[in-house]
Amino acid sequence: MDVRATGVFVMEKVILVTSGKGGTGKTMFSVNLGGTLANCGRRVLLIDMDLGMRNMDLYLGMENKVVFNIMDVMTGICGLNKALIKVDGFDSLYFMAASPRKGDARLTPQNMIALCGTLSKYFDHIIIDTGAGIDELVDASAAAAETAVIVTEPEIAALRDADTVAAHLRDLGIYDVCMVVNNVDMDLVKAGILMDVESIMNCTSTPVIGLIQSDRDIRISTCTGKPLERGKREDIKSNIRTIAGRLIPEG
Ligand SMILES: Nc1ncnc2c1ncn2[C@@H]1O[C@H](COP(=O)(O)OP(=O)(O)OP(=O)(O)O)[C@@H](O)[C@H]1O
Ligand SMILES: [Mg+2]
Repeated sequence: MDVRATGVFVMEKVILVTSGKGGTGKTMFSVNLGGTLANCGRRVLLIDMDLGMRNMDLYLGMENKVVFNIMDVMTGICGLNKALIKVDGFDSLYFMAASPRKGDARLTPQNMIALCGTLSKYFDHIIIDTGAGIDELVDASAAAAETAVIVTEPEIAALRDADTVAAHLRDLGIYDVCMVVNNVDMDLVKAGILMDVESIMNCTSTPVIGLIQSDRDIRISTCTGKPLERGKREDIKSNIRTIAGRLIPEG
C-alpha cells in the first residue's frame, strides 16, 4: 500500500538522504547540506534515522548534548521540544538524535508522517539521514519525504545499488529522486578506475545533481565534529551550496 496516499498531506520540505551501499557519505552530506541551508537563513532540522548505527551527533560535534532521541519522542518519554538540539555554531540548525538501539514498532510510516507534519510548522527544511540499503526505517522515513537524495560513489557497485534504491523509492511514491556522487578522486577517474560523469549518467536514469570530491578536509570535518561551513575550505562549501541550490531551487 502506498502509505503516502493515505496521509493528509505530502511533505514538500522533507528531504530523505539515503544510499544503496554503505559508507558512501550520507551522514557527511546530510550534515553539510543542513549547515549550508542554515547559513542561508533557513530553519533546518536534521533527523538521524540510522538507529543503532548513529553518527550524526559525532559529525556535528554534539555527542555530549544528546539527552533525548527520536525513540523517546515516539514512546512519549519526552515531549518533542526536548529532543530538538540546537547545533553549536549555527543560528538555525537543529537536530534530533537516533536511539542507540534499532527496532521499535512505533517508527511506522504513519508516525513519521505525523512527526514531520508537526515539525514542518517550525522548520523550513527537514533532512532525514538513514542507514544504507532498504529496510523498514528507510520506508518509514520515505513516507514523510517528497524528495530523496541518494548519495553514491563513482563505481559500478555503488551505482547499481543506488539504482535499486531509486526504483524502490519511486515504488513508494517518491518521484523526485536524485543522486549526489561523492568521493570523486580525479586521479582514479583519469586512470580509468573510477567512472567519469558521462559514464555515470549513461548507466543510470536518476539525475545527478552534483559531485563531491574526495578530500582529506571532508574526512577531518566529520572526525572532528566540525561541519564544513565552520571551516575554511571555500571551494568545498561553494560546491555544497551549488548542490543545495539544485535540490531546492529557491534556496
Ligand atoms: N568526499 C569525501 N572525502 C573524504 N572523506 C569522505 C568523503 N565523504 C565521506 N567521507 C568519509 O567517509 C566516511 C563515511 O562517511 P559517512 O559516515 O558520511 O557515510 P554514510 O554513508 O553515512 O555511512 P553509513 O552507511 O555507515 O551510514 C567518514 O569517515 C567520512 O569522513
Ligand atoms: Mg551514516
